Amino acid sequence: MTVLSVTVVPHFIAGRRVEGGPSARVLEPATGRALYDVPQGGAEEVRAALDAAVKALTQTRQLPAHRRADLLRRASALLSERADEFARVIATEAGKPLKASRMEVARSVENLAFAADAASTLAGQTVPLDASKFGEGKFGFTVRAPRGVVAAISPFNFPLNLALHKVGPALAGGNTVVLKPAPQTPLTALMLAELLTDAGFPAGAVNVLHGGAELGGVLVSAPEVAIVSFTGSPGVGEAIKKASGLKPVVLELGNNAANIVDESADLDLAVRKLAASSFAYQGQVCIHPQRLIVHEAVYDAFKEAFVAASRALIVGDPLDPATDVGPLVDERAGARLAEWIREAVDLGGRVVLGGTANGRYLPPTILEDVPPHARIVREEAFGPVVVLSRATTFDEAIRQANDSRYGLQTGVFTRDLAKALVAARDVEAGGVIVNDASTFRVDQMPYGGIKDSGFGREGALASVEELTYLKIVVLST
Ligand code: SIN
Repeated sequence: MTVLSVTVVPHFIAGRRVEGGPSARVLEPATGRALYDVPQGGAEEVRAALDAAVKALTQTRQLPAHRRADLLRRASALLSERADEFARVIATEAGKPLKASRMEVARSVENLAFAADAASTLAGQTVPLDASKFGEGKFGFTVRAPRGVVAAISPFNFPLNLALHKVGPALAGGNTVVLKPAPQTPLTALMLAELLTDAGFPAGAVNVLHGGAELGGVLVSAPEVAIVSFTGSPGVGEAIKKASGLKPVVLELGNNAANIVDESADLDLAVRKLAASSFAYQGQVCIHPQRLIVHEAVYDAFKEAFVAASRALIVGDPLDPATDVGPLVDERAGARLAEWIREAVDLGGRVVLGGTANGRYLPPTILEDVPPHARIVREEAFGPVVVLSRATTFDEAIRQANDSRYGLQTGVFTRDLAKALVAARDVEAGGVIVNDASTFRVDQMPYGGIKDSGFGREGALASVEELTYLKIVVLST
């Protein structure tokens, strides 16, 4: 059932709601019903947002660190007060089960506090220029300077927290932002920009523009934009990188996360963690366990318990607090997954659980014996689908895990410290998570990928470094 009373979600430019451009209709994932209309921005709106962001930059870059930190802490407190409202909006427009939406808001409250800490601690260092004989009599130090206007393009799956991973550190570093949220989740972004303005950031510090790929292209290629930060699919990431020219870009892209269950694993722990995280938010998470690589000695025992735990998950209305697995974001996602599951079966794979959608709801789906070249293994599923495979040794499991164009985060279950250290050394990914699922993330940790999973790191401190530049100051005596 819809909880929103809004009928139009406008842009937010220079601290004001702005309508303009033809409208697109946003549908509720749970029901397919219309939620609201969203004006689609064009060159005119991009120009207005950039003018506002450039103007606000004259203020934000002068804000002392304690003031930037205070404003971010105030935003964190305001968000905490409005946690339930934000969670319900996320559950409605993203179709994310309420308990996961509440978790996202709780993380966002922390994330804003981490951004405040980053504002307080961001620092350069002294450089011993006289280590060179040509530097005698000179004193050098570095400072981190704001890059300027940040173009932030955020995805639908964490409409609040992944937008904040860009906006929070951008503001912590003294920048301003033009945020283009995913077309499916415009209201959360608008509410976030208004909340930051209520917290005291100057009008124009955070602007929100709605629109599709064309708008994104105009935005990232604009000369006023100093840096682009994008989370989404590899294809779009590549297009953004090309359109951005020589600007720095931070790309957080796809993944088909591997999770290794070794013969030395605590199987109860592995089953509990993997069943919960494989299907949370319908697997629409970049680090959701997609490929479970299980040592052959424990394969059958793991499979039996994992299937039982996955079957017990509650599929249903995202606004019901009991729901574990809700609807897919749209019909296109359902059709793509149905095709990939069919292909896996045609190639000899077996459906162990689920496999057939009921309307927009695909229940937890587990496959096995799928050849490695099937798309459900090779590509990012971004749905509640997991593929089990057997490994004869730990090294073989790592080889399977690394057999991917992606490398964001990998989970490894083992009680053998030596194997944990081998995984930490040999797994090709931006993060190796031992004795928890690949989905483990707290928001201060550096987060990002290698290979086609992108480059650059998020997490307040890492991100504020990406979104500022190192400036050397040389004083001569
Ligand atoms: C993502 O889908 O990349 C974000 C996962 C998270 O923040 O938990």
